[in-house]
Amino acid sequence: MPGAEPKQEQEQKDFAVATPFQQVPGFALKGCEGLDWGMKSRMSRIFNPKSGRTVMLAFDHGYIYGPTTGLERMDLTIPPLVPHVDCLMCTRGALRTCILPDCGKPVCLRSSSGSSILKDMSYELISVDIEDAIRLGASAITCQVYVGGEHEYETLRNLSYLINQGMKYGIPTLGVTAIGREMVRDSRYLGLATRLIAEVGAQFVKTYYCEKDFDEVVAGCPIPIVIAGGKKLPELDALKMAYNAISQGAMGVDMGRNVFCADDPIAMVQAVKAVVHNDEKPEKAFDLYQTLKNENKGKAKCKKG
Ligand code: 5RP
Repeated sequence: MPGAEPKQEQEQKDFAVATPFQQVPGFALKGCEGLDWGMKSRMSRIFNPKSGRTVMLAFDHGYIYGPTTGLERMDLTIPPLVPHVDCLMCTRGALRTCILPDCGKPVCLRSSSGSSILKDMSYELISVDIEDAIRLGASAITCQVYVGGEHEYETLRNLSYLINQGMKYGIPTLGVTAIGREMVRDSRYLGLATRLIAEVGAQFVKTYYCEKDFDEVVAGCPIPIVIAGGKKLPELDALKMAYNAISQGAMGVDMGRNVFCADDPIAMVQAVKAVVHNDEKPEKAFDLYQTLKNENKGKAKCKKG
């Protein structure tokens, strides 16, 4: 134990008593002001504090679909994309086998499983202990909810359980609106599902973009919304979707197939980033995509000699 400070040092201390306490300013991210410090800190790893937005890369498809198109070799496809994104959304299996621990990117950890493409995909359980999420240094945890689906109750129970686990340790939960085939992807449905997820207590929500009244979905949801990419679209259309979602208040994207199945995934992720963080118009972002794609082609030719 160090001894008491010498009297002379004590007399030299400066408490700046005339200066009022420098109150920590409010936390800008939508609906996050009331969160604890650890939650806010993790949310700011995911959402770039400058733009307030995020480009998340979703590559958790394999836990349901196996080696799906574009993700046959995660070890080859994903690492080159990592430097360009703000957050990785994946399973613990993908993380431990294919991602360098010193990549410096926050992880939103897929924490549910229990079904495959061969059976009912909506029947899930929380399969990752919170201790394992902590061990992996996860910045967020996630599972999906089938609002209106046959397993609505079970998936909402999963979400509540995950949120409660996350609350214990300051780890935010991303609630995902998974949509059964029987549901219509309109603003009424997405508004219901996102609001429900927010009120159950998730810190952010992932949903799909809809052409009509998406701004109402955003307005009715008190937490940040990120949009899923959905099935593969032509690159310009995917950029238009991202632009429209962002300009109507989405705070980022959590895209998978529209990035890793693009003709040039590395160029595509950079174009998406320009839309999300710099409000780049889709046509300009598409120009960027093509320029980068041509450059990458050139580099590949050079390598081959
Ligand atoms: C499903 C998910 C997936 O990560 C997501 O839907 C995949 O992304 P994309 O649709 O862009 O390929 O959360 O619950």
